[in-house]
Amino acid sequence: MYGKIMLINGPNLNMLGVRPPEIYGTDTLADIEKIVADEGREYGFEVECFQSNSEGAIIDCIHSCFERVDAIILNAGAYTHYSYAIRDAIETVMLPVAEVHLSDIHKREEFRHTSVIEAVCAFQICGLGKQGYIEALHKLKDEYIK
Ligand code: DQA
Repeated sequence: MYGKIMLINGPNLNMLGVRPPEIYGTDTLADIEKIVADEGREYGFEVECFQSNSEGAIIDCIHSCFERVDAIILNAGAYTHYSYAIRDAIETVMLPVAEVHLSDIHKREEFRHTSVIEAVCAFQICGLGKQGYIEALHKLKDEYIK
């Protein structure tokens, strides 16, 4: 094993499969977690999965990664657009964080165009559906994890 990656999904992402499939696809969160964990294993990474609808629980999870995991893949859901607390948590742990969105937030409603976490994340991937999580895994491995 090379190391460990934490996959964090935020609010309403536990409802994937039910949320509008034309925006979010038909896979459930369990499907996506399995795909990412399998791909991670292939590349020598243990992928730990976490989902919460609560801002504080997501922050606690990010803190738990400090000096314990090598990188984080984060879909913060709507918190992306306004949670300065999650932004500060990311900055605090000093880990490469891949910001992922299933949909292309830049082509949707105005309020989704802003990501308050983008500046403290290593990179942002959006609009690729579940493939975005896989791309994030590869990019973290190739460019950010020594
Ligand atoms: C999302 C985009 C957000 O704007 C939205 O609130 C979500 C999901 C995405 O994956 O496309 O919950 O992060």
